[in-house]
Amino acid sequence: MSDGASPEAWWRDAVIYQVYIQSFADGNADCIGDIAGLRSRIGYLAELGVDAVWITPWFDSPLRDEGYDVSDHRAVHPRYGSVEEAKDLITECHAAGIRVVLDIVPNHTSSDHPWFVAALRSAPGSPERSRYHFRPGRDGGDSPPNDWLSVFGGPAWTQVDDSDGNPGEWYLHLFDASQPDLHWDSPEVRREFEGILQFWFGLGVDGFRVDAAPALVKVPGLPDMGYSKDAFRADLTRADHPHRDRDEVHEIYRDWRRIADSYDVPRMFVAEAGLDDVARLARYVRPDELHTTLNLRYLESAWTADSMRTAIDTSIAVTAPVGAPTTWVLSNHDVERVVTRYGRADSRRYPGVSGPDLGPVDEELGRRRARSAALLTLALPGSVYIYQGDELGLADADVPARARRDPIWIRSGGLRLGRDGARVPLPWTPAGASYGFGRDGAWLPQPDGWGDQAVSVQEGDMSSFLELYRTALRLRRLLPGLRVASKLRWRDAPRDDVLVFTRAPGFGCVVNFGPTPVPVPLAGLVLLSSAVTGARDEVPPYGAIWLDLDGQTTV
Ligand code: BGC
Repeated sequence: MSDGASPEAWWRDAVIYQVYIQSFADGNADCIGDIAGLRSRIGYLAELGVDAVWITPWFDSPLRDEGYDVSDHRAVHPRYGSVEEAKDLITECHAAGIRVVLDIVPNHTSSDHPWFVAALRSAPGSPERSRYHFRPGRDGGDSPPNDWLSVFGGPAWTQVDDSDGNPGEWYLHLFDASQPDLHWDSPEVRREFEGILQFWFGLGVDGFRVDAAPALVKVPGLPDMGYSKDAFRADLTRADHPHRDRDEVHEIYRDWRRIADSYDVPRMFVAEAGLDDVARLARYVRPDELHTTLNLRYLESAWTADSMRTAIDTSIAVTAPVGAPTTWVLSNHDVERVVTRYGRADSRRYPGVSGPDLGPVDEELGRRRARSAALLTLALPGSVYIYQGDELGLADADVPARARRDPIWIRSGGLRLGRDGARVPLPWTPAGASYGFGRDGAWLPQPDGWGDQAVSVQEGDMSSFLELYRTALRLRRLLPGLRVASKLRWRDAPRDDVLVFTRAPGFGCVVNFGPTPVPVPLAGLVLLSSAVTGARDEVPPYGAIWLDLDGQTTV
């Protein structure tokens, strides 16, 4: 909890663990992670020392985009459990001191959602169709209404048949064709989502991640983007974008904030909003809107001193003027895992891709950098998101082509690997069926040797990733210099490939991005090092250390 801050502001410096539920723990031996599995591992999360979990969508869904295609936001998909079990999970998490954040998907529904099914059965111009973006095609109806492209690649429009079987209108889907975009001008759509928030808040949920937060409102008239003929996926970068970050979207979030604030213990929101324009991004976290935004700039940055420092400075500068804290995110279920990305010569993040096309991966190097990245990230002021498995140092798994299922893989005809490699079920034990993930197999194949990094292998081994994370999280709670109110102050670094900063009182962090050791540039006691061995008076190659500058800390 923040120093001086009220318990309501827990989100200001919380460490939030992302549970990708289908890959966390399988409690009923169907090879898919579920609520029962998650409940059985609350002790693990408590011992890790996280403040909250963010659970990716567990709602009813045909799962064409792994649950980000919701057919009923008020029901739990039977493969994960039930609303009753969800309630028990929330109670048990709270008893363990862990808050629960769910994932709401307001930009689109599944094409199996009763609203969309009704829209398909109804005539053009009907109220049922007005909840989505239906339009007649161009060129006599045969071409899509405009040139928009999907974020997953390919056209953002699909044509439906009329009741007589003839080709009819087209509907908009900024993601997969199974994810039709909702029309947020519709009062019914607004009321429905407010009701969904109230439903889950009523069950004790502490907050929501807002999926694709800037996407909801589209410019009237849906004008062309002007794509070239060979463009494949949506360009999300341009200013004054017709389907992204429209000013009107903020009205929606102000309404949501009023709902969140209406509870005795106010609830929180974290936006998924990867906007390049930092001033525009700050608008999402104004005091009467969403509380925080996932920091994709930090996640995308290359592992170099320059690039990380710029990402850190920019991130803090963005949210400070509106009074919101920064979040720090190294990875999630949409991108390559940190070990893999940092194992490349070019460690920037590229959207939606992974694999050899980006150059070879040196996993050993990736691991050393990822351990340093953990220490850097957990030393920054603000809230931190940990993607499940990063605390084990997992790399992306090489998922065989036949097992890949990400719509990015499917829609690109296998040209883009997509995100499955980062979604492979966790190893809990060194051997056995699915390495302890469940009593049987795993829905995405785990590679040979996956168990070498299992939880039970790492537990108690002080040289392991897991114990590094546990120690860092324990210190983060303990050290006054790591409380949210304590600002970061850069210090002179001995070399260009080194970052040095302090946070009062008495905390220092040094990160060596280079291949040669560097003498510790601050006077103090080394509390924690990312490297397992090495001299205590130097920061090892690709290593990071935490220091007690006052000699006050008893570890
Ligand atoms: C989620 C993705 C999902 C997409 C569409 C993203 O922000 O993180 O996993 O495919 O939204 O809902």
